[in-house]
Amino acid sequence: MESKFSQLLLKDISKKIMEVPFSQIEDSEFISKKEEALFPITTLGSVDRIFRAIPNLFHSTILLVSVLSILLIYEPLLMVVSIILAVLGFSLSRVMIRNEAKLAQNNARNNSEYVYYLRTMRNPEIAKDVRIYKAQPFFVEKLSKLYDYIVKASKVLYQSREYRALINQILSVFLMIFIYSYLIVRVTSASISSAIFILLINAAVNFNDQINVFLSELLLLNQQLIYLRPLVEFYDMLKGQRYSGNLFLDKEIKSVEFRNVYFRYPKTEEDVLKGCSFKLENCKNLSIVGRNGSGKTTIIKLLSRLYEPQSGEILVNGVNINKYEEKSYLKQLSIIFQDFKTFHYSLRENIVFDSEFNEARFECAIEQSELSKELHKFPKGIDTKLSDEDEDDSAISLSKGQEQKLVIGRSIYGDGSLLILDEPTASLDPIAEEQVYQHFRSITENKLAIFISHRLSSCRFSDTIIYLEDGRVSEVGSHGELMNLNREYASLFNLQASKYQ
Ligand SMILES: Nc1ncnc2c1ncn2[C@@H]1O[C@H](COP(=O)(O)OP(=O)(O)O)[C@@H](O)[C@H]1O
Ligand SMILES: [Mg+2]
Repeated sequence: MESKFSQLLLKDISKKIMEVPFSQIEDSEFISKKEEALFPITTLGSVDRIFRAIPNLFHSTILLVSVLSILLIYEPLLMVVSIILAVLGFSLSRVMIRNEAKLAQNNARNNSEYVYYLRTMRNPEIAKDVRIYKAQPFFVEKLSKLYDYIVKASKVLYQSREYRALINQILSVFLMIFIYSYLIVRVTSASISSAIFILLINAAVNFNDQINVFLSELLLLNQQLIYLRPLVEFYDMLKGQRYSGNLFLDKEIKSVEFRNVYFRYPKTEEDVLKGCSFKLENCKNLSIVGRNGSGKTTIIKLLSRLYEPQSGEILVNGVNINKYEEKSYLKQLSIIFQDFKTFHYSLRENIVFDSEFNEARFECAIEQSELSKELHKFPKGIDTKLSDEDEDDSAISLSKGQEQKLVIGRSIYGDGSLLILDEPTASLDPIAEEQVYQHFRSITENKLAIFISHRLSSCRFSDTIIYLEDGRVSEVGSHGELMNLNREYASLFNLQASKYQ
């Protein structure tokens, strides 16, 4: 039950985190609350402890009631003194436990940083940089400092726990002295028989034991609930933030329009888009060009509803995209982001995920993405797993070019009606990039497509090119028209061309 419930909880949290609005994922408050919330479950075992405390509480309650009735009948005074001392011990412990919870939460934060360093130091991807920049002492130093700090903090925590136990022991000893002396006086003055004396001694000792068990289980429960408080707060952060319309998008995307869109990222000062407007329709393809940081990727993030604009509208098929039911809307988009990711599953799963498997579409995807040409190099073909740090022997790591083919395959398999390519070709040479873009133009002949590239030569065959400057569209037209206009686009194009002459 313990492990089932913890796993269920972790599964639920992970699922909710994947559904949270994207803008929140990057928010530092969200990230630290997430760490705090997960720590008691993954590291402190709070859920397991709660599960164990509850039956113990029941058990000791039953025992308490039975010995209590004996004391109540013969010597109520013993009962009162026992209860007073137990409650005193309990109150002291509670105060100390509050402090301990605070210390433990601080430790949670340091611990996650510690884990970060450990993981980073072992990460093969940074091995090159570490060696070249001789960064080993830097990492070791960082880690040792943190380690010392954590050990010191843990020491304070454990000391507090030991003091707590000591205080309770002392109270317990006092109580025993009292009980024995009191009953000895009673038996010698012949107010009780020796049989009752034995009965009462046993009852008092049992009572004292059980009340200590009962209170310490209660404290444990209390402590674990304090640890779990950030989890409750985190759940609050997770809920009720979805904005999703209910209009089902079951047709292909035929037009995309940005109408005077203003947008700034959360917690930043400056607008990234300042009245951005453009329209795309009639199976045309559009290239968005502009300098680094001009907001090209941001446009795609808004279009895929990862963020919402502060003002202005984004229309798809003439309807504000917020009105669409999210899943049906996103199904129509095939996007390859600049910083695309592959996952440590088989090639097939990387393309299909868990959508229903469609053989014909799959064949087409690996054919068109040219992944099929690479397959003979992999031990298990399309079912070869991509490697992670600790992986079985048949797992492979892909070259950048192969990864690109994989995500291109994924987007073709996705079969959305609007295809978006956001500079996924940055690590390809100009010729290979040119090929990818040409290839995509042929795949998307009767679809809408948006291409983004900082290499203007890749974009020059697009039907329409928009030049993005200072959060606005400053030039629109075909390559020829923009060259004739002879403004920013033309000068950037000439600058890039001159490098190749
Ligand atoms: N998550 C973010 N939070 C805050 N600012 C961001 C974020 N992502 C991008 N920006 C800023 O927005 C601007 C536009 O970024 P981006 O759309 O990625 O540009 P481009 O794709 O044209 O190079 C940049 O100034 C960048 O620093
Ligand atoms: Mg970008």
